[in-house]
Amino acid sequence: MKIFFLGDIVGKSGRIAINKNLKETIQDKNIDFVVVNGENAADQGVGITEEISNELFSLGVDVITTGNHVWDQKETTNHIERESRLLRPENLTSNSPGKGFGIFKTKKGFKVGVLNLMGNVFMKKCENVFETANKFLNKYKLKKDYDFLVVDFHGEITSEKMAMGHFFDGKATLLVGTHTHVPTNDCRILLNGTAYLTDAGMCGDYNSVIGMDKINSLNRFLKKESQKHYPAEGEGTLCGLIVECNISNGLANKVESFIKGGELNK
Ligand SMILES: [Fe+2]
Repeated sequence: MKIFFLGDIVGKSGRIAINKNLKETIQDKNIDFVVVNGENAADQGVGITEEISNELFSLGVDVITTGNHVWDQKETTNHIERESRLLRPENLTSNSPGKGFGIFKTKKGFKVGVLNLMGNVFMKKCENVFETANKFLNKYKLKKDYDFLVVDFHGEITSEKMAMGHFFDGKATLLVGTHTHVPTNDCRILLNGTAYLTDAGMCGDYNSVIGMDKINSLNRFLKKESQKHYPAEGEGTLCGLIVECNISNGLANKVESFIKGGELNK
């Protein structure tokens, strides 16, 4: 049983890279379940549309997670109510549309839980993420409620993500960070068996500033004339990881980072 996770898809570059590589990778690597963070997948680099979600599902994605940009395309508040495979952070205020957790079946009949969380430090205001995680872990158990559990922790700072990794150690198959758009080099299995990576990085054009046009972004920092951020549109790199899961205990046997194409793979 193999789970493939890909970090934040940014704009057209990210989508084209997915389009070009995902089906082939699923076949070559014998992938059973695919989770992507899609919160930057729209053309503008913020939010996701129904059409894009459907395109990702048709390419082999099983579940799409999001984060702080989840509502940036207006249609998402309605779409997310109809589409259980599209998640928003679990710790948004309780009256938010959609869900932050779901249990999904693989073709082989395994149940995979996917939980989407968002950090509190330097992020949009949301409920305390550790309290939400604690409540979740009191309610749901690995091997009882699902065979495997994937947690996408969408957050800005490394310490919060690493702490959450240890909090879920032995209770999730994988805890992976998203949001910074830069892959970290600390992919490993924690002491109690949970695969962990501080940040998966983005699926997008790295000849940029975290996926956005680099000249425009630099001009904004220099306080020169600039526009709203817009995505860079060069060749995208796919960034994420593959976890080989242990069927008997639901934890990770092996984890390896995955980086393919574009600027990071030259
Ligand atoms: Fe984000």
